[in-house]
Amino acid sequence: MTIWNLGSINADMVYDLPHLPAPGETLAAHGLDRFLGGKGANMSVAAARAGSRVSHIGAVGHDGRWAKDRLTEYGVDTRYISEVDLPTGHAIIAVDAEGENLIILYPGANHALDVSHLGQALSSASTGDLLILQNETNAQVEAAQFGRKLGLTVCYAAAPFQAQAVQAVLPYLDFLILNEIEAEQLRQETGMGAADLPVRHVIVTLGAKGARYLQQGNDPVEFSAHKVQAVDTTGAGDTFTGYVLAGMDRGMPMEQAILQANRAAALMVTRHGTADVIPDLREVRDATFD
Ligand code: RIB
Ligand code: NA
Repeated sequence: MTIWNLGSINADMVYDLPHLPAPGETLAAHGLDRFLGGKGANMSVAAARAGSRVSHIGAVGHDGRWAKDRLTEYGVDTRYISEVDLPTGHAIIAVDAEGENLIILYPGANHALDVSHLGQALSSASTGDLLILQNETNAQVEAAQFGRKLGLTVCYAAAPFQAQAVQAVLPYLDFLILNEIEAEQLRQETGMGAADLPVRHVIVTLGAKGARYLQQGNDPVEFSAHKVQAVDTTGAGDTFTGYVLAGMDRGMPMEQAILQANRAAALMVTRHGTADVIPDLREVRDATFD
């Protein structure tokens, strides 16, 4: 099977700071690195490193060939990444001494994907393939509709969270992943708690506390997170999602996929950077935690 990912591709400029800047503050960084990033690209790389076949659908600018090349190098099929007349998306990421971050996002090319291009790409998908979307590209609703029509398992990672964006794709979803605060926001907007959503599988991530899995008609299952020394939490959520998808793709029971994803995310929190440093399956299996 193939995982299809309509996803963002960004250049991540990661600044190491003593603390996150306050309004009006001028703050010198003591480090700057560029990584491949974007929630979409991070998920594609995570799923590929977990052993799945991944086709990424997206757009970069004429300045983004390096990003496409890097995805190819990491085992992701980049045939359906187009080049458009807008700059490649980028993210300015501030990371403090505790590994906490703040992100400024410039979507650029990520919002300029041609819908007919999307249709063309998905027409090569087979029934039963997975389709993953996040909230950093255009054409999310079209993709969800196409996906449903083609009999794909439609998954949505509600990040960055916007209740309206979730509501728009909700009728087409088989799987939704969001965090605790977002689940509460969604409840306020829709009146539906995570357990009442008309979606077969829902995962609510709980940060350092782990994750909760809600399968329609079953009792919720809780998973605790591994305790690690945080270096940089950026991309850990995306790594979790990519690993869950890869588990589903390879027919793992969801509980087992979540356990593996938890390990991958914990490892990712100990690493500085985004897509380039996502652990592979062997590292995830070999990791030991306290
Ligand atoms: O989730 C982390 C990602 O968010 C970064 O890679 C950045 O590009 C933004 O999309
Ligand atoms: Na990280």
